[in-house]
Amino acid sequence: MNAPPSGSTCKVLADDAHGITEAAGYIRDGQLVAFATETVYGLGGDATDDDAVVSIFKAKGRPRFNPLIVHYADISEISRDVDFNARAQKLAAAFWPGPLSLVLPRSANCRISLMASAGMDTLAVRIPDHKTARRLIVESQTPIAAPSANKSNHVSPTCAEHVISELGSDIAAVIDCGHCTVGIESTVLDLTVENPIVLRPGKVTIEEITSVLGTTNVMNTGGNSPNGHDIKSPGMLKRHYAPHQPLRMDAQKAEPHESLLGFGPEASHATLNLSPSGDLDEAAANLFAMIRDLDRRDFSGIAVMPVPETGLGCAINDRLRRAAHGSSA
Ligand code: TXA
Ligand code: MG
Repeated sequence: MNAPPSGSTCKVLADDAHGITEAAGYIRDGQLVAFATETVYGLGGDATDDDAVVSIFKAKGRPRFNPLIVHYADISEISRDVDFNARAQKLAAAFWPGPLSLVLPRSANCRISLMASAGMDTLAVRIPDHKTARRLIVESQTPIAAPSANKSNHVSPTCAEHVISELGSDIAAVIDCGHCTVGIESTVLDLTVENPIVLRPGKVTIEEITSVLGTTNVMNTGGNSPNGHDIKSPGMLKRHYAPHQPLRMDAQKAEPHESLLGFGPEASHATLNLSPSGDLDEAAANLFAMIRDLDRRDFSGIAVMPVPETGLGCAINDRLRRAAHGSSA
């Protein structure tokens, strides 16, 4: 990758044994390191260290009431910190390592800073499907709290350049692992209630979760905040993932002042196309990088063509709706 922009003070580490060992040293030292997961880059700090967790909130400009996901390399470590119940075990067997975060009750001996839970008695945990991330956790000898490595409410980063442009002067280092393969944040599932609730849609769909849990009635918030969950998962805030330019959905063509983000074979006139073949996995992987790209261009708005509301398309549309919310045309 190119040299970091001026003003950035973070080290750019290679995705190799050397880089990971250096990064783990920073984490053990209470500093922050950004690293790739399969979904998006995370802004990582020692989850057991109050000061490190506070510095994550500060670097992102994130409200303290919005809890963090804690990343682990194996289930035996997770079950020290949360009540890893039977439903969690089933889902872990099916989807981990992978893009599913489980919200579970904190255990009596939970080692994780209460600030990572935003003072609540629950904790979101996951094992990422990325070797570097897991090696970093193992070498750091601690679970790593990691929200997406962007400023609060802005677009999530899917490559090291995105991280450096927003947080380059707030973190010790970033491990440059290239582009994230999934490109959209993990599905967040609340397992602390009788009927599990998808708090944030993602790559793992409600249909897949339901089929693993069998008869359990899994509820989908549909991206809307039902009563009582506004604070439980503030990542569901209506305006989130937002570019600087206003974003307009379900457009067939752009107005003269707008760029056009297309989807599918009919979108040859688009400025950029999420997936010329209409593949939702490809579209998710391109989504945030293309929004950032268009946001930097010489237009004053971004028009987005329709994306089908099926499978991963639900998560893509969820992110687009939040990015669009509050945008004036
Ligand atoms: O894919 C991902 O999940 C990425 C990578 C880095 O793992 N992380 C990520 O973290 O997207 P963040 O902080 O940007 O989003 C975490 C979401 C937020 O919506 C937050 O409110 C919710 O998870 N969350 C975290 N802990 C929670 C808890 N205890 N109860 C309910 N929601 C929680
Ligand atoms: Mg985020």
